[in-house]
Amino acid sequence: MNKYSLLTMKDLTKQDILQILDDALLFGTDYKDWQLPRSKALIANLFFEASTRTHYSFESAELQLGCKVADIDVGKSSVTKGESLYDTVKVLESIGYDAVVIRHSQDEYYKELENISIPILNGGDGQKDHPTQCLLDLLTMYQEFGTLEGLNVVICGDILHSRVAASDKEALEKMGATVRFAGPEIWRREGFTPVELDDVIEEADVVMMLRIQKERGSSLGDMTDAEYLERYGMNKTRYARMKDTAIIMHPGPINRGVEFDTDLVEAPKSRYFKQIQNGVLVRKSVIKRAFGYPPFEKENA
Ligand code: CP
Repeated sequence: MNKYSLLTMKDLTKQDILQILDDALLFGTDYKDWQLPRSKALIANLFFEASTRTHYSFESAELQLGCKVADIDVGKSSVTKGESLYDTVKVLESIGYDAVVIRHSQDEYYKELENISIPILNGGDGQKDHPTQCLLDLLTMYQEFGTLEGLNVVICGDILHSRVAASDKEALEKMGATVRFAGPEIWRREGFTPVELDDVIEEADVVMMLRIQKERGSSLGDMTDAEYLERYGMNKTRYARMKDTAIIMHPGPINRGVEFDTDLVEAPKSRYFKQIQNGVLVRKSVIKRAFGYPPFEKENA
């Protein structure tokens, strides 16, 4: 496995995370036009699951960095003839790709890719990890509060199936934040401290809502969308109870009127579209790192 692969937030130290965030911030300012040398810039995007944000912000980041991008259409590839994930990635490596971004429904799919030499950037694996989503979430909080240490974060919703919840828990705790989890009891997850959202909403710095993952078997059962919003969602009553300085977030895509009152998606405390913007900065930062470039030197910025 290439040492610059980004597979899980467990692999990153606190210092690694801060370096990625600092580079991402600089990509938004002094290093806006920084590009990779052409010789190191052939990237394949291999998405086995649907995606808008991750897929196309990776592509945007790659193009901004001067990469050449191959968007692999899995449905037209030899995967449909039964070719394994390992063989598919090995073929891409043999053809000459310098890095590959992969989203796959299998938890820790990358464990079968240990013999691949090019960097692998994980665009989400099963219910386990979503490192670049996590990093853009961290960047959004870091921009807002200037630190992650001591932040009080509540993540609410379909915790059980959420790779975002898992990655954010891992990283936020590493960075010194407190993270607790709210939502329906059936979606609780072992080791994830449960709270009632209404008990903690006034003290939270960040409240992040999660999408109900129907594709992984989640269902509201007898509850209507409106009842879910009332019991567990970000509605106007909860929004009004939050601190003036607090923010609301969602990894997307949002089910409007279920996890979020539609009027709150672009409300003053919402950072939903900011998160999406930050996705490009973070992905530029992890691609730069994947090619072995050291962090930008701030004093030269
Ligand atoms: N947050 C997220 O992963 O969104 P996409 O599925 O659209 O990439």
